[in-house]
Amino acid sequence: MSFSLPSTVELVQNPPAVRIIDQTLLPGELRLIDLVSVDQVAEAIKVLRVRGAPAIGCAAAAGIALAAKIEGGDELADLKAFLGKTDATLAATRPTAVNLFWALARMRKIWEAWCGPVADLRSALAAEAVAIIADDLERCRAIGRYGADLIPDGADVLTHCNAGALATAGYGTALGVIRGAVEQGKRLHVWADETRPLLQGARLTAFELAADDIPCTVLCDNMSASLMGAGRVTCAVVGADRIAANGDTANKIGTYGVAVLCKHHGIPFYVAAPFSTVDFALASGGEIPIEQRKPDEVSMLGCFLPHPITPDGVEIFNPAFDVTLADLITAIVTERGVARPPFTESLRRLAPDQ
Ligand code: MRU
Repeated sequence: MSFSLPSTVELVQNPPAVRIIDQTLLPGELRLIDLVSVDQVAEAIKVLRVRGAPAIGCAAAAGIALAAKIEGGDELADLKAFLGKTDATLAATRPTAVNLFWALARMRKIWEAWCGPVADLRSALAAEAVAIIADDLERCRAIGRYGADLIPDGADVLTHCNAGALATAGYGTALGVIRGAVEQGKRLHVWADETRPLLQGARLTAFELAADDIPCTVLCDNMSASLMGAGRVTCAVVGADRIAANGDTANKIGTYGVAVLCKHHGIPFYVAAPFSTVDFALASGGEIPIEQRKPDEVSMLGCFLPHPITPDGVEIFNPAFDVTLADLITAIVTERGVARPPFTESLRRLAPDQ
């Protein structure tokens, strides 16, 4: 199946830029914007113009390649110093998705060790960023092929947030599983949680499924319990921002609740993610840093209202992610196959080289 959107992240050479879909404007407007400085790339990641764990990694890699292009000098030491600052700026944008740090480390491995001509380093970094983006697309397609077998024909699949083409280099992880099942000829219907406070489900998941003619119904986050109780959810599939070695999974706030509900109702709960999302350095989910975001995302209904819905001065709680404990997860679908509990063994078996 082809998806009908432009690339989520692209490295443009002439003039140098990181081209993204500005996701803050969706679904009203599909606009491509060119980010031409490191600060613009960092701002775009921070305010979620580009978002979703793999897409953030792709944008950061392209940001390093862009930095190498716009730092004009011929001195290797100057370029490396600029890349070091760029690396720190991009690493400080969002703390939870490990793909960001994974992609920066892949780029750093090249520039830190470099001792050849400066021009060749610029080309090598551009080539690596392009490879990271192409590689992510391939990983998503493989996740789709493995995950498709888990979804029965006629399924009603619930998803939370957006783990689709817009959250990756293309095709998606959770939505990649759905696309993979549709490619197998299965007829599916998707329940898309709206995903407060920033509404990635309502705005983005519904947008890209509609673009691919995959039937989808949006519901408020507090409606899924009654839907499950009524027997109208076959399974849930979500993405991930960071998976600890034991399978505990950080994903968009609200995912944990969906997993608990699935367990109660005996509904399979699947996580779909590439190995760039698995952090083997963390033993369990309690070690995953959780991003706290600004209060007006909650008080202004995702910043879509001109005035607050909460009284002045009231305290607001706004973590961007939560951690779903591994014992609530039926399987983790990766580009190397499907991991089943216990995940400490199954994830390691699939990725002995990491
Ligand atoms: O805050 P966001 O929109 O970047 O959060 C995105 C998610 O939580 C996604 O589910 C996750 O990154 C997986 S994307 C394939």
